[in-house]
Amino acid sequence: MSSSNSRSNLIKALVTGGAGFIGSNIVKLLYQEQHEVVVLDNLLSGYQENLAPFPDICFIQGDIRDEKIVNTAMQGVDVVFHLAASVGNKRSIDHPIEDAEINVIGTLRILEAMRQHNVSRIVSTSSAGIFGELKTLPIDELHPIDPDSPYGATKLASEKLVLAYGKLYGIQAVCLRYFNVYGVNQRFDAYGNVIPIFAYQMINHKPITIFGDGEQTRDFVNVYDVARANYLAAMSDASGAFNLGSGTRITINHLVELMSQTSGIKPQVTYGPPRPGDVRHSLADISAAAKAFGYEPIVDLKTGLAEYMEWAKVALKEAE
Ligand SMILES: NC(=O)c1ccc[n+]([C@@H]2O[C@H](COP(=O)([O-])OP(=O)(O)OC[C@H]3O[C@@H](n4cnc5c(N)ncnc54)[C@H](O)[C@@H]3O)[C@@H](O)[C@H]2O)c1
Repeated sequence: MSSSNSRSNLIKALVTGGAGFIGSNIVKLLYQEQHEVVVLDNLLSGYQENLAPFPDICFIQGDIRDEKIVNTAMQGVDVVFHLAASVGNKRSIDHPIEDAEINVIGTLRILEAMRQHNVSRIVSTSSAGIFGELKTLPIDELHPIDPDSPYGATKLASEKLVLAYGKLYGIQAVCLRYFNVYGVNQRFDAYGNVIPIFAYQMINHKPITIFGDGEQTRDFVNVYDVARANYLAAMSDASGAFNLGSGTRITINHLVELMSQTSGIKPQVTYGPPRPGDVRHSLADISAAAKAFGYEPIVDLKTGLAEYMEWAKVALKEAE
């Protein structure tokens, strides 16, 4: 890991997976900062309406595994934000071949196109899923890596490929290992995380189920902070892999209380048996990202949840 200097010029950015939850929030930040943005997304799990507020960007509907389309998207690009992926443990167990093709071969297609087009900067997306069973808290970059799902394994392969291309071809490469990201544009599909699942159930006045005693803890980081981390990393000279969370943790019981307080909805809570493979506690050590590119989360959970619950109410109404 090396540390930062600042770049301030306007850039042309390619955001793969830019129609997705986190990608669209990165697009928003780049757009606000007046950078030129190209999005490459095949809408596997993304939504073109996420990009509706940004009419001036270039949207290419296509697959990162498609060499021709990736080469078209790479024309004149300064920085790649690589988020396109088959996302989540469950999807990877249901569709392991597709997971590997997108997360490994797709990443290689992006890297090969970068090499051919002399693009020298990438901020790529890894996951806390690469660690597998958690052994120490907080989780720093030296925590043992031992993924226990196809998704964790392919995100690790993707991370290693990005860093290897960095060494081989002088590409400045940063991989950000996200913990539990939540926030605006996070929808409620079958592969969703706990916050959108609870939001969906609460807004629809359905009971919510907590697996285990609810005293397990998670590090929830707001998508605005994740978007800023991507931006700061891109504008710095940092390279290497960094853990990215909020640096704080909360129990699932407390999370439900906060979601209830911020939305004014009192859910009926039931408790189910703990899910096999679920870790008891999770917390990111974010000091390396702070040192390397000045990352500092600024959205506190209560404020972020209030904003998310408001967004979710509208999104669910529109989907009816
Ligand atoms: N949400 C989290 O908590 C979390 C945690 C760790 C890592 N991540 C990583 O963050 C990134 C973004 O995830 P997200 O939560 O925004 O999910 P998402 O599903 O909303 O975003 C993924 C995007 O990639 C696109 N995509 C998928 N396959 C593609 C392909 N072959 N070609 C082009 N586009 C393709 C999808 O259509 C979607 O827009 C992913 O790389 C994911 O692994 C997310």
